[in-house]
Parts: sequence; structure tokens; C-alpha cells
Amino acid sequence: MKLISPSLLSADFGNLQRDIEMLNASECDWLHVDVMDGIFVPNISFGQPIVKHIKKHAQKPLDVHLMIMDPGRYVQDFRDAGAAILTIHYEACHHHDRVLHAIHDAGMKGGVVLNPSSPVSLLEDIIQECDVVLLMSVNPGFGGQKFIENTYNKVRQLRALCDRKNPQCLIEVDGGVNLQNAIKLFEAGADVLVAGNAVFKSDDPAATIHQMKQ
Ligand code: DX5
Ligand code: ZN
Repeated sequence: MKLISPSLLSADFGNLQRDIEMLNASECDWLHVDVMDGIFVPNISFGQPIVKHIKKHAQKPLDVHLMIMDPGRYVQDFRDAGAAILTIHYEACHHHDRVLHAIHDAGMKGGVVLNPSSPVSLLEDIIQECDVVLLMSVNPGFGGQKFIENTYNKVRQLRALCDRKNPQCLIEVDGGVNLQNAIKLFEAGADVLVAGNAVFKSDDPAATIHQMKQ
């Protein structure tokens, strides 16, 4: 699969409705929504009230990436705010199995996110419960960072793990994705690419999304 999930972190927060409508009209598949708490990551972005407003305008599924400690506390809140996919960081949660069940019980797709320094082997006993695994290709917290090259190896390792234990699971990559590395990531086995700056800082975001999907 070749899906694109543009990250609204790079949108113009003063013109969110305009930017969401641009994405509605584009070929993107999901809208990536980065929630940061200032503790798990150094930055603070926005919470449920803003997600609710994003949902009002969005015509595509909201792919909500929780960069918050103890994410199990907020599963129902983000469901109510309109999330379709909810991903939680392996490093921010003690009870992955319990929280993924809560996400599924709330009617959402769920998955685990790995930081660049967390090995794919950590997923050995939780991959069966994941609809998606998100591999961070930068250290989470900010848009516009440089892509970490080791991500290609991790995508291949994760592909092998999914083939063995959960072939339905989607592989998503987030951070520093651009038109150059997108092709290589899809070739390595990625299904979903998140792109913030590469989309929003380009002259023609819709055309960039189109090119990324080729
Ligand atoms: C980083 C976020 C990313 C970020 C990606 O912590 O999870 O989703 O917005 O932005 P780019 O594509 O600019 O690296
Ligand atoms: Zn993200």
C-alpha cells in the first residue's frame, strides 16, 4: 500500500480550516495529527479541543500520534474528538496490550510507535495487536528535522516481523520524509508515509502529495 498522511504540525495554525480543505481536495489518505505534552517530548502542540475542530473540517481519517506519557488515560477523549487511528509510544506506556485493547474497544484502529533508538524486536509480543506500527525517523517533538538513515533497516526488519506474525499490519514512517526518500521507503516495505514540511513548505502541496504516491 502507498498511503500519505500529511502532518498538520506543519500547517498554518492560523488557517487550519483552509489547509485541511486543501488536503481534502488532495490525494492524501489520512491526516496526521501530532499531540505533544511537553514531558514525553520537549514540545507542546495541541490537545483534544483542537482535534475536535480539525475533525469538523476533515474528510479523511484522523491519524492521531500521541507523544504523551501514559496515553491510556486519554483513549476515550481522542475517540470522542474524532480520531480514527490512535498510536501510542512504546516508550511512554507500560501496558501496551491493555491500551491497544482499549483503543479497539473504543472503535479505533491502534498501533505502537517506536523512537529511533527503540529496536523493532520490542514488538515481538505486541505486533499481533497492532493495526499499524509507526517508526519514527527523527527524534519526536519537532517538524523539519533530518531523516535518520537507519530507518530503512528498521522498515525491512519490521516487514519481516509482520510477514511472520501479522501480515495485515501497516508500516508507517514519520519524520524527515521527502520526495527523495519516499521512493526508497516504499521499496523497503513502508505502507504509510507521514510528511510535514515536505508537503506544507512546498510550492504546490497537492502536487507534492501526488508525486509522493507515484
Ligand atoms: C515529529 C512529528 C512528525 C512531524 C513530521 O515529532 O511526529 O509528525 O510533524 O514533520 P516533518 O515531515 O517535517 O519531519
Ligand atoms: Zn507524528
